[in-house]
Amino acid sequence: MQIETKDFFFFFAKGPDVTTYVENGIADIGVVGGDIIIEHQPDVYNLFPLPFGQCRMALATKKDYQWPDQKKRIASTFTNITKTYFKEKGESVDIIKLEGSVELAPILGLADAIVDIVETGNTLKENGLVIEDEFLAFSARLIANRSSLKIKREQLVPVIERFKEGAKQR
Ligand code: PRP
Repeated sequence: MQIETKDFFFFFAKGPDVTTYVENGIADIGVVGGDIIIEHQPDVYNLFPLPFGQCRMALATKKDYQWPDQKKRIASTFTNITKTYFKEKGESVDIIKLEGSVELAPILGLADAIVDIVETGNTLKENGLVIEDEFLAFSARLIANRSSLKIKREQLVPVIERFKEGAKQR
């Protein structure tokens, strides 16, 4: 979906692609989930949090699941976040990368557990999964291309300020 106004051109893209468009200067600014920023560490100005899209990262598995004695298998789209989480716990696990529908992995026996974002908790509930641990809370964030912010400062600062004002009012 695209929207064009007198001064701006807006387009919608998948989260990880938003950072790619902003990183490459195709978009001057972007709105993206904090999870994407933590996972992919894009080379952009990570400006400030916005008051929507509040989520947290969770380790979840089947209810009453008997964890195996051997190395755990953890499925996730967020492999870097998962790696860091288990590294900090001093635990070695096998991480299986999935692109979506991560909640299927424990049900189908691909993994012992998943690391995924949780907002309402409905997806986990619908799939009979329970949260073992919650870590990292984040929301949507405003990001900007590094060069754009210097070159187009006069145009962009008022827009960024409006985002900031809007965020304060919520
Ligand atoms: C995320 C996540 C869960 C869902 C959690 O998926 O992977 O599937 O949201 O939200 P809930 O706790 O409110 O149920 P998303 O909607 O971002 O789509 P994706 O599967 O394409 O990543």
